[in-house]
Amino acid sequence: MSNNVYGVVLAGGIGSRMGNMEKPKQFLDLGGKPVIIHTIEKFAIHPGLKEVLVLSPRAWVSYTQDIVRKYLPSGKAVTVLEGGATRNETIMNAIRYIEGKGELEEDTIIVTHDSVRPFVTHRILEENIRFAGEYGACDTVIPATDTIVESRENDQITDIPNRRFMYQGQTPQSFRAKKLKELYESLTSQEKEILTDACKILVMKGEHVHLVQGETFNIKITYPYDMTVAKALLGLEEKEC
Ligand code: CTP
Repeated sequence: MSNNVYGVVLAGGIGSRMGNMEKPKQFLDLGGKPVIIHTIEKFAIHPGLKEVLVLSPRAWVSYTQDIVRKYLPSGKAVTVLEGGATRNETIMNAIRYIEGKGELEEDTIIVTHDSVRPFVTHRILEENIRFAGEYGACDTVIPATDTIVESRENDQITDIPNRRFMYQGQTPQSFRAKKLKELYESLTSQEKEILTDACKILVMKGEHVHLVQGETFNIKITYPYDMTVAKALLGLEEKEC
């Protein structure tokens, strides 16, 4: 296994779908500490990661540094950086940081994860590190439970793909960082705009992206309703410990 593995916690968004909150959703309280701290903790205790990079909106970088200092014991290196205008640009900022340290090698792996998925597990992180090393890239998914209905014009069905082949994408998504950067830089600005999913960059270029089995509870906090679910899940997680 590569020992040049970085955790990359993506927190560069502002959470517009949460509605009018006093802070972006990653900083909202979940059972006594910010959502993002739960997420960073999962990364910080994983022995396979040499450093955890956390990328925040420019206006929230020093706030993020403050809460990291407050809640996380020193030990594992956690570095707060500025995110980008899009999710992929945020990932690129993480890679540029690694490059700037002179540590961007062929086998450098980044395990990228939504800061607002605080229930990621040790097993999921472990498999991401392993499969990204073996295959170059991997994506965490769960089998689709609902039938997926496609509608190109948003008013009538254009297709109903076979559910057996459908999955719901979660994170982490992990990559050989150098390769991801090269592929991203080869895209036109129009392609960059359409490609909101980092794995799709590789899929478009015909690269292998291996699947990692996610968990139904590895939810993303997107809407206020998800905070209610997250609070219930936190109760379950604490009971299991
Ligand atoms: N993200 C990021 N940089 C961006 C945009 C998003 O790092 N420029 C991160 C978010 O902070 C979040 C994750 O990507 O942790 C998943 O994105 P999403 O849930 O869409 O977050 P937001 O963009 O913040 O939410 P919304 O789309 O509702 O504004």
